[in-house]
Amino acid sequence: MCYNIGMQYLAVLGRQPEISLAELEALFSDVKKQSCLIAFFKSDAEPRLARLGGSLKLAKKLENISPEEYLLGLPDGKITLGLSDYTYGDKKYSSRDIKNISQYGNRIKQALKAEGRSVRLLPNSTPTISTAAAHHNGLGRSPKKVELIKFRGDWFVSLGSQNITAYKNRDQVRPARDAKVGMLPPKLAQILINLCGPLPIDTTILDPFCGTGVVLQEALLMGYNVYGTDKDERMVKYTEKNLIWLSKKQHLNQKITLEQGDATSFQWTEPFGAVVAETYLGPPMSEPPADIKLKTAKEECGAIFAGFLKNLAPQITHDTPIVLALPAWRRRDGSFARLKTIDEIEKLGYNVLNKSAGGLLYARENQVVAREIIVLRKK
Ligand SMILES: C[S@@+](CC[C@H](N)C(=O)[O-])C[C@H]1O[C@@H](n2cnc3c(N)ncnc32)[C@H](O)[C@@H]1O
Repeated sequence: MCYNIGMQYLAVLGRQPEISLAELEALFSDVKKQSCLIAFFKSDAEPRLARLGGSLKLAKKLENISPEEYLLGLPDGKITLGLSDYTYGDKKYSSRDIKNISQYGNRIKQALKAEGRSVRLLPNSTPTISTAAAHHNGLGRSPKKVELIKFRGDWFVSLGSQNITAYKNRDQVRPARDAKVGMLPPKLAQILINLCGPLPIDTTILDPFCGTGVVLQEALLMGYNVYGTDKDERMVKYTEKNLIWLSKKQHLNQKITLEQGDATSFQWTEPFGAVVAETYLGPPMSEPPADIKLKTAKEECGAIFAGFLKNLAPQITHDTPIVLALPAWRRRDGSFARLKTIDEIEKLGYNVLNKSAGGLLYARENQVVAREIIVLRKK
Protein backbone atom coordinates (compact mmCIF):
# COMPACT_ATOMS: atom_id res chain seq x y z
CA MET A 1 0.00 0.00 0.00
CA CYS A 2 1.24 3.52 -0.77
CA TYR A 3 0.82 6.28 1.84
CA ASN A 4 1.26 9.87 0.85
CA ILE A 5 2.80 11.72 3.75
CA GLY A 6 3.63 14.95 1.89
CA MET A 7 2.72 18.28 3.44
CA GLN A 8 -0.53 19.90 2.42
CA TYR A 9 -0.18 23.05 0.31
CA LEU A 10 -2.61 25.53 -1.19
CA ALA A 11 -2.16 27.32 -4.52
CA VAL A 12 -4.01 30.44 -5.60
CA LEU A 13 -4.62 29.76 -9.29
CA GLY A 14 -3.81 32.27 -12.03
CA ARG A 15 -5.88 33.99 -14.71
CA GLN A 16 -6.39 30.74 -16.60
CA PRO A 17 -7.03 28.25 -13.77
CA GLU A 18 -7.10 25.16 -16.01
CA ILE A 19 -3.53 25.90 -17.15
CA SER A 20 -2.38 26.57 -13.55
CA LEU A 21 -3.94 23.29 -12.52
CA ALA A 22 -2.30 21.31 -15.34
CA GLU A 23 1.08 22.71 -14.24
CA LEU A 24 0.51 21.67 -10.60
CA GLU A 25 -0.66 18.20 -11.70
CA ALA A 26 2.51 17.70 -13.73
CA LEU A 27 4.71 18.35 -10.67
CA PHE A 28 2.87 17.41 -7.47
CA SER A 29 0.68 14.69 -6.01
CA ASP A 30 -2.96 14.74 -4.89
CA VAL A 31 -3.76 17.96 -6.75
CA LYS A 32 -7.40 18.79 -6.07
CA LYS A 33 -9.23 21.81 -7.40
CA GLN A 34 -11.29 23.36 -4.59
CA SER A 35 -12.80 26.38 -6.37
CA CYS A 36 -12.09 28.56 -9.40
CA LEU A 37 -9.34 30.24 -7.34
CA ILE A 38 -7.89 27.52 -5.14
CA ALA A 39 -6.25 24.09 -5.47
CA PHE A 40 -4.72 21.84 -2.81
CA PHE A 41 -1.74 19.59 -3.42
CA LYS A 42 0.85 17.57 -1.54
CA SER A 43 4.61 17.73 -1.76
CA ASP A 44 7.45 16.22 0.26
CA ALA A 45 9.81 19.10 -0.52
CA GLU A 46 8.76 22.71 -0.02
CA PRO A 47 7.56 23.98 -3.44
CA ARG A 48 9.10 27.17 -4.84
CA LEU A 49 6.64 29.68 -6.23
CA ALA A 50 9.34 31.32 -8.37
CA ARG A 51 9.49 28.09 -10.42
CA LEU A 52 5.77 28.05 -11.19
CA GLY A 53 4.30 30.17 -13.96
CA GLY A 54 0.63 29.52 -13.26
CA SER A 55 0.11 30.09 -9.53
CA LEU A 56 -0.25 33.50 -7.90
CA LYS A 57 0.44 32.42 -4.31
CA LEU A 58 1.50 29.25 -2.52
CA ALA A 59 0.81 28.51 1.13
CA LYS A 60 1.52 25.74 3.63
CA LYS A 61 -1.20 24.38 5.92
CA LEU A 62 -0.98 25.27 9.60
CA GLU A 63 -1.28 21.84 11.19
CA ASN A 64 -2.42 21.66 14.84
CA ILE A 65 -1.62 25.30 15.51
CA SER A 66 -3.90 28.36 15.44
CA PRO A 67 -2.99 31.55 13.52
CA GLU A 68 -2.44 33.37 16.86
CA GLU A 69 -0.10 30.65 18.16
CA TYR A 70 1.80 30.69 14.87
CA LEU A 71 2.27 34.48 15.04
CA LEU A 72 3.33 34.38 18.69
CA GLY A 73 6.04 31.88 17.79
CA LEU A 74 7.71 34.28 15.30
CA PRO A 75 11.10 35.89 16.11
CA ASP A 76 11.05 39.14 18.11
CA GLY A 77 10.24 42.42 16.35
CA LYS A 78 7.37 44.02 14.52
CA ILE A 79 5.20 41.73 12.40
CA THR A 80 3.68 42.83 9.09
CA LEU A 81 0.49 40.86 8.63
CA GLY A 82 -1.91 40.40 5.74
CA LEU A 83 -5.01 38.24 6.04
CA SER A 84 -6.82 36.68 3.11
CA ASP A 85 -9.99 34.62 3.02
CA TYR A 86 -10.40 32.81 -0.30
CA THR A 87 -13.46 30.86 0.87
CA TYR A 88 -15.87 32.88 -1.29
CA GLY A 89 -14.40 31.08 -4.34
CA ASP A 90 -16.84 30.74 -7.20
CA LYS A 91 -19.36 33.24 -5.80
CA LYS A 92 -18.78 36.99 -5.68
CA TYR A 93 -17.61 38.10 -2.25
CA SER A 94 -19.91 40.23 -0.11
CA SER A 95 -19.23 43.18 2.19
CA ARG A 96 -19.81 40.71 5.05
CA ASP A 97 -16.76 38.67 3.88
CA ILE A 98 -14.61 41.83 4.06
CA LYS A 99 -16.01 42.77 7.45
CA ASN A 100 -15.38 39.29 8.89
CA ILE A 101 -11.73 39.14 7.85
CA SER A 102 -11.07 42.74 8.99
CA GLN A 103 -12.64 42.07 12.40
CA TYR A 104 -10.62 38.88 12.74
CA GLY A 105 -7.46 40.84 11.87
CA ASN A 106 -8.20 43.41 14.57
CA ARG A 107 -8.83 40.67 17.15
CA ILE A 108 -5.50 39.02 16.30
CA LYS A 109 -3.73 42.37 16.51
CA GLN A 110 -5.16 42.99 19.98
CA ALA A 111 -4.28 39.48 21.16
CA LEU A 112 -0.69 39.90 19.97
CA LYS A 113 -0.47 43.37 21.50
CA ALA A 114 -1.55 41.90 24.84
CA GLU A 115 1.47 39.59 24.57
CA GLY A 116 3.79 42.55 23.90
CA ARG A 117 4.07 42.05 20.11
CA SER A 118 3.53 44.91 17.69
CA VAL A 119 1.77 44.26 14.40
CA ARG A 120 1.26 46.27 11.22
CA LEU A 121 -1.99 44.91 9.83
CA LEU A 122 -2.55 45.48 6.10
CA PRO A 123 -6.10 46.77 5.53
CA ASN A 124 -8.55 44.54 3.63
CA SER A 125 -10.47 46.37 0.90
CA THR A 126 -11.45 42.90 -0.36
CA PRO A 127 -11.41 39.58 1.56
CA THR A 128 -7.97 38.87 0.06
CA ILE A 129 -4.71 40.79 -0.10
CA SER A 130 -3.98 41.26 -3.82
CA THR A 131 -0.98 39.48 -5.33
CA ALA A 132 0.60 42.86 -6.08
CA ALA A 133 0.12 44.15 -2.48
CA ALA A 134 1.41 40.87 -1.03
CA HIS A 135 4.46 41.06 -3.31
CA HIS A 136 5.21 44.73 -2.68
CA ASN A 137 4.96 44.22 1.10
CA GLY A 138 7.28 41.21 0.86
CA LEU A 139 4.71 38.90 2.52
CA GLY A 140 5.98 35.33 2.74
CA ARG A 141 9.53 36.36 1.90
CA SER A 142 10.81 36.81 5.45
CA PRO A 143 9.66 35.29 8.76
CA LYS A 144 8.05 38.44 10.15
CA LYS A 145 6.24 39.44 6.94
CA VAL A 146 3.32 37.09 7.00
CA GLU A 147 0.22 36.44 4.94
CA LEU A 148 -2.23 34.05 6.54
CA ILE A 149 -4.69 32.52 4.14
CA LYS A 150 -8.03 31.08 5.17
CA PHE A 151 -9.83 28.59 3.02
CA ARG A 152 -13.08 27.20 4.40
CA GLY A 153 -12.13 25.80 7.86
CA ASP A 154 -8.34 25.75 7.40
CA TRP A 155 -5.52 28.27 7.74
CA PHE A 156 -2.38 28.36 5.61
CA VAL A 157 0.77 30.46 5.84
CA SER A 158 1.91 32.01 2.57
CA LEU A 159 5.26 31.06 1.04
CA GLY A 160 5.14 34.14 -1.17
CA SER A 161 3.29 35.62 -4.10
CA GLN A 162 4.16 35.94 -7.75
CA ASN A 163 7.19 38.17 -8.25
CA ILE A 164 5.76 40.62 -10.76
CA THR A 165 8.95 42.72 -10.74
CA ALA A 166 11.26 39.80 -11.59
CA TYR A 167 9.05 38.70 -14.50
CA LYS A 168 8.94 42.23 -15.87
CA ASN A 169 12.72 42.52 -15.66
CA ARG A 170 13.33 39.19 -17.39
CA ASP A 171 10.91 40.13 -20.13
CA GLN A 172 11.63 43.78 -20.74
CA VAL A 173 15.18 44.45 -19.61
CA ARG A 174 16.91 41.68 -21.60
CA PRO A 175 19.14 43.03 -24.34
CA ALA A 176 17.64 41.41 -27.50
CA ARG A 177 13.92 41.57 -28.19
CA ASP A 178 11.87 41.24 -31.37
CA ALA A 179 8.15 42.08 -31.40
CA LYS A 180 7.68 40.25 -34.71
CA VAL A 181 8.40 36.76 -33.39
CA GLY A 182 5.73 37.24 -30.73
CA MET A 183 6.53 37.77 -27.09
CA LEU A 184 6.28 34.57 -25.16
CA PRO A 185 5.58 35.60 -21.55
CA PRO A 186 8.23 34.15 -19.18
CA LYS A 187 5.39 32.73 -17.06
CA LEU A 188 4.11 30.72 -20.00
CA ALA A 189 7.64 29.50 -20.76
CA GLN A 190 7.85 28.21 -17.16
CA ILE A 191 4.49 26.47 -17.52
CA LEU A 192 5.63 24.76 -20.75
CA ILE A 193 8.81 23.48 -19.05
CA ASN A 194 6.91 22.32 -15.96
CA LEU A 195 4.40 20.41 -18.11
CA CYS A 196 7.32 18.05 -18.92
CA GLY A 197 6.92 16.82 -15.32
CA PRO A 198 9.85 16.47 -12.91
CA LEU A 199 13.13 16.29 -14.87
CA PRO A 200 16.59 15.29 -13.60
CA ILE A 201 18.56 18.47 -12.94
CA ASP A 202 21.25 17.59 -15.53
CA THR A 203 18.61 17.46 -18.30
CA THR A 204 19.28 19.40 -21.48
CA ILE A 205 16.16 21.13 -22.79
CA LEU A 206 15.98 21.60 -26.55
CA ASP A 207 14.03 24.48 -28.10
CA PRO A 208 14.15 23.99 -31.90
CA PHE A 209 12.31 27.33 -32.53
CA CYS A 210 14.30 29.31 -29.97
CA GLY A 211 13.57 32.83 -31.33
CA THR A 212 14.87 35.31 -28.77
CA GLY A 213 15.31 32.57 -26.18
CA VAL A 214 12.53 33.01 -23.60
CA VAL A 215 12.03 29.26 -23.05
CA LEU A 216 15.78 28.73 -22.71
CA GLN A 217 16.13 31.68 -20.29
CA GLU A 218 13.55 30.11 -17.99
CA ALA A 219 15.10 26.66 -18.37
CA LEU A 220 18.50 28.09 -17.32
CA LEU A 221 16.93 29.75 -14.29
CA MET A 222 15.43 26.38 -13.30
CA GLY A 223 18.90 24.86 -13.42
CA TYR A 224 18.77 22.91 -16.71
CA ASN A 225 21.28 22.85 -19.56
CA VAL A 226 19.89 24.37 -22.74
CA TYR A 227 20.13 23.71 -26.45
CA GLY A 228 18.56 26.16 -28.88
CA THR A 229 18.23 26.07 -32.63
CA ASP A 230 16.37 28.34 -35.04
CA LYS A 231 16.20 28.60 -38.82
CA ASP A 232 17.02 32.31 -38.65
CA GLU A 233 20.65 33.10 -37.82
CA ARG A 234 19.61 36.50 -36.45
CA MET A 235 17.40 34.78 -33.87
CA VAL A 236 20.23 32.48 -32.79
CA LYS A 237 22.34 35.61 -32.19
CA TYR A 238 19.50 37.20 -30.17
CA THR A 239 19.19 34.11 -28.01
CA GLU A 240 22.96 34.04 -27.49
CA LYS A 241 22.95 37.66 -26.36
CA ASN A 242 20.04 37.11 -23.96
CA LEU A 243 21.39 33.90 -22.44
CA ILE A 244 24.86 35.33 -21.89
CA TRP A 245 23.28 38.42 -20.26
CA LEU A 246 21.13 36.26 -17.97
CA SER A 247 23.93 33.84 -17.06
CA LYS A 248 26.21 36.73 -16.07
CA LYS A 249 23.51 38.57 -14.14
CA GLN A 250 22.36 35.48 -12.23
CA HIS A 251 25.78 33.77 -11.99
CA LEU A 252 24.54 30.68 -13.82
CA ASN A 253 26.99 28.22 -15.28
CA GLN A 254 24.95 25.54 -17.03
CA LYS A 255 25.82 24.45 -20.54
CA ILE A 256 24.41 26.49 -23.43
CA THR A 257 24.48 25.14 -27.01
CA LEU A 258 23.13 27.20 -29.91
CA GLU A 259 23.07 26.37 -33.62
CA GLN A 260 21.33 27.57 -36.71
CA GLY A 261 19.05 24.85 -38.09
CA ASP A 262 15.74 24.19 -39.80
CA ALA A 263 13.59 22.15 -37.39
CA THR A 264 12.10 20.20 -40.30
CA SER A 265 15.46 18.75 -41.34
CA PHE A 266 18.15 19.47 -38.73
CA GLN A 267 20.10 16.65 -37.08
CA TRP A 268 20.65 17.84 -33.51
CA THR A 269 24.27 17.29 -32.62
CA GLU A 270 24.02 17.23 -28.80
CA PRO A 271 21.91 14.83 -26.70
CA PHE A 272 18.77 16.32 -25.10
CA GLY A 273 16.22 15.01 -22.60
CA ALA A 274 13.14 17.16 -23.28
CA VAL A 275 11.77 19.33 -26.07
CA VAL A 276 9.97 22.57 -25.19
CA ALA A 277 9.05 25.19 -27.76
CA GLU A 278 6.70 27.80 -28.99
CA THR A 279 6.59 26.79 -32.66
CA TYR A 280 6.30 29.17 -35.60
CA LEU A 281 3.14 31.27 -35.09
CA GLY A 282 2.77 32.73 -38.59
CA PRO A 283 2.55 36.44 -39.39
CA PRO A 284 1.59 38.87 -36.59
CA MET A 285 -2.11 39.82 -36.76
CA SER A 286 -3.87 42.82 -35.27
CA GLU A 287 -7.42 41.70 -36.13
CA PRO A 288 -9.16 38.36 -36.67
CA PRO A 289 -8.02 37.11 -40.09
CA ALA A 290 -10.24 36.77 -43.16
CA ASP A 291 -10.79 33.13 -44.23
CA ILE A 292 -8.14 33.22 -46.93
CA LYS A 293 -5.52 34.72 -44.62
CA LEU A 294 -6.33 32.14 -41.95
CA LYS A 295 -6.07 29.31 -44.49
CA THR A 296 -2.63 30.50 -45.63
CA ALA A 297 -1.35 30.89 -42.04
CA LYS A 298 -2.67 27.44 -41.08
CA GLU A 299 -1.03 25.83 -44.11
CA GLU A 300 2.31 27.54 -43.52
CA CYS A 301 2.45 26.84 -39.77
CA GLY A 302 0.95 23.35 -40.21
CA ALA A 303 3.62 22.32 -42.73
CA ILE A 304 6.45 23.46 -40.41
CA PHE A 305 4.83 21.75 -37.41
CA ALA A 306 4.27 18.45 -39.25
CA GLY A 307 7.76 18.55 -40.84
CA PHE A 308 9.31 19.19 -37.42
CA LEU A 309 7.51 16.27 -35.72
CA LYS A 310 8.48 13.95 -38.58
CA ASN A 311 12.13 15.03 -38.36
CA LEU A 312 12.16 14.80 -34.55
CA ALA A 313 10.71 11.27 -34.23
CA PRO A 314 13.86 9.25 -35.10
CA GLN A 315 15.99 11.52 -32.85
CA ILE A 316 14.09 10.90 -29.57
CA THR A 317 12.91 8.03 -27.39
CA HIS A 318 9.31 7.18 -26.44
CA ASP A 319 9.94 8.78 -23.01
CA THR A 320 11.20 12.15 -24.23
CA PRO A 321 8.74 14.78 -22.93
CA ILE A 322 7.63 17.20 -25.65
CA VAL A 323 5.64 20.31 -24.76
CA LEU A 324 4.69 22.72 -27.51
CA ALA A 325 2.77 25.97 -27.79
CA LEU A 326 1.05 26.09 -31.20
CA PRO A 327 -0.77 29.03 -32.76
CA ALA A 328 -4.58 29.30 -32.49
CA TRP A 329 -6.29 32.21 -34.23
CA ARG A 330 -9.17 34.22 -32.82
CA ARG A 331 -12.13 34.36 -35.21
CA ARG A 332 -14.53 37.30 -35.46
CA ASP A 333 -17.12 35.42 -33.37
CA GLY A 334 -14.58 35.01 -30.52
CA SER A 335 -13.98 31.28 -31.09
CA PHE A 336 -10.50 29.98 -31.98
CA ALA A 337 -9.27 28.20 -35.12
CA ARG A 338 -6.76 25.56 -34.03
CA LEU A 339 -3.72 24.56 -36.04
CA LYS A 340 -4.43 20.80 -35.93
CA THR A 341 -7.04 18.54 -34.37
CA ILE A 342 -5.90 15.92 -31.84
CA ASP A 343 -6.54 13.22 -34.49
CA GLU A 344 -4.32 15.01 -37.00
CA ILE A 345 -1.51 15.31 -34.42
CA GLU A 346 -1.82 11.65 -33.42
CA LYS A 347 -1.65 10.64 -37.10
CA LEU A 348 1.83 12.23 -37.15
CA GLY A 349 3.02 9.41 -34.84
CA TYR A 350 2.59 11.01 -31.40
CA ASN A 351 0.18 10.60 -28.47
CA VAL A 352 -1.35 13.80 -27.11
CA LEU A 353 -1.23 13.36 -23.33
CA ASN A 354 -3.35 16.34 -22.31
CA LYS A 355 -6.32 15.71 -24.60
CA SER A 356 -8.74 15.10 -21.71
CA ALA A 357 -8.21 18.71 -20.59
CA GLY A 358 -10.13 19.65 -23.76
CA GLY A 359 -7.14 21.66 -24.95
CA LEU A 360 -5.19 24.23 -22.99
CA LEU A 361 -5.54 27.56 -24.66
CA TYR A 362 -3.43 30.48 -23.45
CA ALA A 363 -5.20 33.59 -24.72
CA ARG A 364 -5.14 37.27 -23.90
CA GLU A 365 -8.19 39.36 -24.66
CA ASN A 366 -6.37 41.85 -26.86
CA GLN A 367 -4.42 39.25 -28.89
CA VAL A 368 -5.51 37.55 -32.11
CA VAL A 369 -2.90 34.80 -32.06
CA ALA A 370 -3.30 32.63 -28.95
CA ARG A 371 -1.27 29.55 -28.01
CA GLU A 372 -2.59 26.04 -27.70
CA ILE A 373 -0.45 23.97 -25.35
CA ILE A 374 0.06 20.30 -26.20
CA VAL A 375 2.00 17.63 -24.32
CA LEU A 376 3.27 14.81 -26.55
CA ARG A 377 5.13 11.51 -26.46
CA LYS A 378 6.29 9.59 -29.49
CA LYS A 379 4.04 6.54 -30.11
C1 LIG B 1 7.16 32.30 -32.35
S1 LIG B 1 8.86 32.34 -32.58
C2 LIG B 1 9.44 31.63 -31.11
C3 LIG B 1 9.69 32.70 -30.12
C4 LIG B 1 10.43 32.24 -28.96
N1 LIG B 1 9.63 31.41 -28.08
C5 LIG B 1 11.01 33.39 -28.18
O1 LIG B 1 11.18 33.24 -26.99
O2 LIG B 1 11.35 34.40 -28.73
C6 LIG B 1 9.11 31.13 -33.76
C7 LIG B 1 10.52 31.01 -34.25
O3 LIG B 1 10.53 29.93 -35.17
C8 LIG B 1 11.53 30.20 -36.13
N2 LIG B 1 11.26 29.32 -37.27
C9 LIG B 1 10.34 29.43 -38.25
N3 LIG B 1 10.40 28.37 -39.07
C10 LIG B 1 11.35 27.56 -38.59
C11 LIG B 1 11.87 26.31 -38.97
N4 LIG B 1 11.42 25.67 -40.04
N5 LIG B 1 12.86 25.75 -38.23
C12 LIG B 1 13.34 26.40 -37.13
N6 LIG B 1 12.91 27.60 -36.73
C13 LIG B 1 11.92 28.16 -37.45
C14 LIG B 1 11.42 31.69 -36.38
O4 LIG B 1 12.64 32.19 -36.88
C15 LIG B 1 11.09 32.21 -34.99
O5 LIG B 1 12.25 32.63 -34.34
